[in-house]
Amino acid sequence: MENVSNDSKKVVLSLVQASGTPTLGNYLGAFKNWHEMAEDNDCIFGVADLHAITVRSKPADLRRRSIEMYAMLLALGLNPDKNIVFLQSHVQEHALLGWILNCYTQFGEASRMTQFKDKSTRHADNVNVGLFTYPILMAADILLYNADMVPVGDDQKQHLEIARNIAARFNGIYGDVFKLPEPYIGRHGAKILSLQEPEKKMSKSDPNVKAFISLTDPTDVIVKKIKGAVTDSEARVYYGEGKAGINNLMTIYSCCTGKGMDDIEREFEGKGYGDFKAAVAEAVAEELRPLREEYERILGDKAYIEKCAAEGADKARAIARRTVRKVMKKVGFYQI
Ligand code: TRP
Repeated sequence: MENVSNDSKKVVLSLVQASGTPTLGNYLGAFKNWHEMAEDNDCIFGVADLHAITVRSKPADLRRRSIEMYAMLLALGLNPDKNIVFLQSHVQEHALLGWILNCYTQFGEASRMTQFKDKSTRHADNVNVGLFTYPILMAADILLYNADMVPVGDDQKQHLEIARNIAARFNGIYGDVFKLPEPYIGRHGAKILSLQEPEKKMSKSDPNVKAFISLTDPTDVIVKKIKGAVTDSEARVYYGEGKAGINNLMTIYSCCTGKGMDDIEREFEGKGYGDFKAAVAEAVAEELRPLREEYERILGDKAYIEKCAAEGADKARAIARRTVRKVMKKVGFYQI
């Protein structure tokens, strides 16, 4: 594959869940650095639509969210000619390797996944077995492509660890089949907190929509949400203890403008929170505008999306098939 044959480049792989529009927090924490990552590496990125069905949704919603997330990946700067950008369900090898790896994972180790414990409490009405084997399918996603690196947030570290353990166990039995993936440490992104409870992470699943800015929020919504952000009663813009709300807005402002904290303090000396919030809102709106416009442009061109997705799936499948063939041969499936 021309995409992965260049030895000096590393394979960076990630799949994203199509569970809703990402937030400003996702953007400033990770996506903003993707251009750089996509320049320096062979990126394989996908929409984790097989993982998505661990939570029940209407067929039309799943379809729409999957394609929206795909368009978002392209808008965020992944280049479908240079990188592989695809939908997981288009490459059936994911499910096949997932099954095989199920048989090389111990019930006990899967039971220790903290995300499973969390999710099964939160979705107590639908604790399906897919939720339990979710990390094993994720291991298959990674191992199919011999990924060198996987960009992971804190919540996914344990999943990367189990993928490594499964791979090492398999290799221990059959020889070197899988590459052990490492976490991708990109340029450090900022941790953006909720606008309403600045002790918590900004999250797209927050029931209070005022707590997060979605990447597709139009300017007037951005302005309203920033204006309504929780601050403190001191009315002085500086970074410090007990000022979680202001600290968070300063971090956001700093990420969008490139200004340091000292510069920001100087800029707003003698000014109130109203002026500061107006400036933050404008900076955020300017930062997100090109992304939103690009996203809408791509989403409006279904033919283009489908062409990219079909090509992405072909490229992904070619790699995935080779891995599965090798695995099946090692395990002892009769080959004809
Ligand atoms: N579990 C990941 C998340 O919730 C999504 C995911 C699925 C993934 N397969 C992956 C991430 C493979 C990295 C690599 O964010």
